[in-house]
Amino acid sequence: MNLKKIVGFEAAKEVKDGDIVGLGTGSTMEYFITKLGERIENEEIEIMGIPTSYQSFLLAKELNIPVTTLDEYDIDIAIDGADEIDKDLNLIKGGGGAHTLEKIVDYSAKVFIVIADENKLVKNLGNFPVPLEIISESVKPVFSALRDMGSEPIIRMAKHKVGPVISDNGNFIVDAKFPIVNNPVQLEKDLNSIPGVIENGIFSQMTDKAIIACENGIKKINF
Ligand code: 5RP
Repeated sequence: MNLKKIVGFEAAKEVKDGDIVGLGTGSTMEYFITKLGERIENEEIEIMGIPTSYQSFLLAKELNIPVTTLDEYDIDIAIDGADEIDKDLNLIKGGGGAHTLEKIVDYSAKVFIVIADENKLVKNLGNFPVPLEIISESVKPVFSALRDMGSEPIIRMAKHKVGPVISDNGNFIVDAKFPIVNNPVQLEKDLNSIPGVIENGIFSQMTDKAIIACENGIKKINF
């Protein structure tokens, strides 16, 4: 069973005619955006998307989903994937390195829905390293601050390019493993207070609803 496809398709039903939709990033979101494109074509609904990455921008363009910007419109609903989801719907995101714009878009939305397969549900965040987008000149002081916080940071390296991953915004991505994240609200603030960190991948207290695909069906959790 392709749980990412099931949940992506299910989430597309949440979008209403006339909505401005935040388009998250990742493989689960590819299914959501694809289904949204089908709905626009078949049901003739009028929506506009606000992409969170080049990935979602290019896919939206390919599928003839009109795109706009936060400067032009407020977002009615944002849908996005996650790398980990705890019981209070706090998230770790940024597996695709797009968490800075994802956070801006998801946070701005009137309603933010996270979608994932059940493997992303965890008791406590922290098995997945926390991604940080950082200014390239700040590696040494940022690593020093992260080590003082008990983390083991690494620079994310590219697979089809030599050297580090460069984000859509032209910055480095660092993955910082913490033993366990007991207080995601505080950690999110602490990480963003390190000079050189642009944004971190903890999304605390901002998810309104989760749609989770399980082997035995769809689960919807309202916060
Ligand atoms: C990208 C993200 C993704 O939403 C997250 O990594 C989940 O991806 P996938 O749906 O491919 O498992 O935060 O920056």
